[in-house]
Amino acid sequence: MCGIVGYLGREKASDIIIAGLEKLEYRGYDSCGICFYDERAKRFVMYKDKGRVAHLKNDFDYDKCNGLGIGHTRWATHGQPNQLNSHPHFSEGDRFAVVHNGVIENYKELTERYLAGVQFVSETDTEVIANLIARFALQMPAEEAIRKTLSVLEGSYALLVVDTLDPHVLYAAKNKSPLLLGVGKRGVTLASDVMALVGYADQYFPIEDKTFTVVSEKDGVSCFALYDILGHPVETKFMTIDIVLDEIGKGGYSHYMLKEICEQPSVVRKIVSKYLPEDRIQIDPETLSWFKTAERIYVIAAGTSMHAGFVGKYLLENIAGIPVEVFIASEFAYNPPLLVKNPLFVFISQSGETADLRACLVDVKRRGFRTVTITNVPTSTLAREADKFLEIFAGPEIAVASTKAYVGQIVILAILAVALADRPPFDLHKELAKVAVAMEAVIDKREFIHGLVKAKITKRNCFYIGRSLDYFTCLEAALKLKEISYIQTEGFAAGELKHGTIALIEQGVPVVAIISQKAVARHTRGNIREVCARGAEKLVIATQLVSDPTDELILMDVHESLTPLITIIPTQLIAFYAALDIGKDIDKPRNLAKSVTVE
Ligand code: M6R
Repeated sequence: MCGIVGYLGREKASDIIIAGLEKLEYRGYDSCGICFYDERAKRFVMYKDKGRVAHLKNDFDYDKCNGLGIGHTRWATHGQPNQLNSHPHFSEGDRFAVVHNGVIENYKELTERYLAGVQFVSETDTEVIANLIARFALQMPAEEAIRKTLSVLEGSYALLVVDTLDPHVLYAAKNKSPLLLGVGKRGVTLASDVMALVGYADQYFPIEDKTFTVVSEKDGVSCFALYDILGHPVETKFMTIDIVLDEIGKGGYSHYMLKEICEQPSVVRKIVSKYLPEDRIQIDPETLSWFKTAERIYVIAAGTSMHAGFVGKYLLENIAGIPVEVFIASEFAYNPPLLVKNPLFVFISQSGETADLRACLVDVKRRGFRTVTITNVPTSTLAREADKFLEIFAGPEIAVASTKAYVGQIVILAILAVALADRPPFDLHKELAKVAVAMEAVIDKREFIHGLVKAKITKRNCFYIGRSLDYFTCLEAALKLKEISYIQTEGFAAGELKHGTIALIEQGVPVVAIISQKAVARHTRGNIREVCARGAEKLVIATQLVSDPTDELILMDVHESLTPLITIIPTQLIAFYAALDIGKDIDKPRNLAKSVTVE
């Protein structure tokens, strides 16, 4: 949550910062701001406001911006999204400007202890950081004052700091929140995500926790130095940026979400090419042995990734015979279950940055348990901090509503389940090839699905019902619809409906039923009759094998265990078109952010 970008080099900093903030807007978009050095006026200038980066880009003047600046796009944690609470924040007297991603837990104590008498202008914890630096800098050099500030901060932060007395230096520090440093021919860029470095850096590295960075200029060339909290130099290893600009554009689609839905068949094929080359499963043998020898797998995840975890539980238990429990990360962190003696913890996360998951990871690692992360972002915190890491290879997912990463997570879990089975129950390579084709067939019908949405999804509420594996799809389908259209939607185990919730069914309420499992199809059809008898507007999505001529949408058959990969596609399209028709901001739904980096 929140995205930060900083630049020191020979380019105009505002161009790089604003382009970077546009790419980081998925992390938060309540408000944004920039602070840069104005070459002609010989002073730092700040613009910030409530609203989107487009406003920052179009409505202010950057003519005299030089090669140093910092910028921020915000998801509000402390105080409302308004101009005063937007970043950057200055210290009293305007010496230091700071942008911050994270939460300072002890900001009240720090204020009482060190900042008596300071007049704060915002409600943010960040302003405390700027003022602490300024207070310490009364007695020591800026660099030391920042390090001293870091030593008293508790919580998470990715910070960029400029000292208005020195327009040739940019300071950075990080703990828990992500921060990357990229080096290009014309300067050094710091950002919360590698996407903001694309085009400006050839090489980059993720900065480690509790590391302090000084970026400076010598004879027109930018350079940097890394230190630990005590000021000792720290070594690092560069990586090459392997994302191309095309991958992070809309590629001719109206929305990222639609693009990402349409990319799903190629995501399945890409994962197959990575993990099943020449038809043989290739996963690190030690990782597989950890799964095999664990008494129980504990899957820790949130939101969409947790729904993928439910499907994974089904696959691992039914195909590989390994017991699995799935936990909401934020619950596991503070109300953990009684654990078996030899557990394996699996963290599933699109972003690899979700703070709720990280809190659990830190805790279980401290207790000496083995950990594996499944994520789409190889440089992410969870990827780096878990003992093992499986990459999803879905390519950058930019829409806040996760689609292709979800499908990718399930494919990885299916590959794991088959790899761990004593006798593989089906030819995975062949079945996943069928899945990709069946996905394409649904995507080709998207205009027809749009018509169904116009005819059926007409109320302020909606239900998804299904049983067994279809129930998990219902949970995810409901989350998709509610998060981007704001239509109140619930996903229910079809049999559970009449234990209370059926009271909400009245004339015209849409009930979308998902049917792909032979063993329970008849029962779900019974539940459809029950809701229709009470006036519900039905929309049945079924796979061919279990379909009925009266079903609204019939999907190609794939192996029964893999149907969640197919049945989810029309529901993603339903969410997309429902939100489109009522004019919602599909890629950036209100109150949300793509990386949830605060607990
Ligand atoms: O990055 P993660 O997968 O860890 O994020 C967890 C949830 O916030 C996320 O899956 C969220 O539910 C989706 N963006 C919703 O589409």
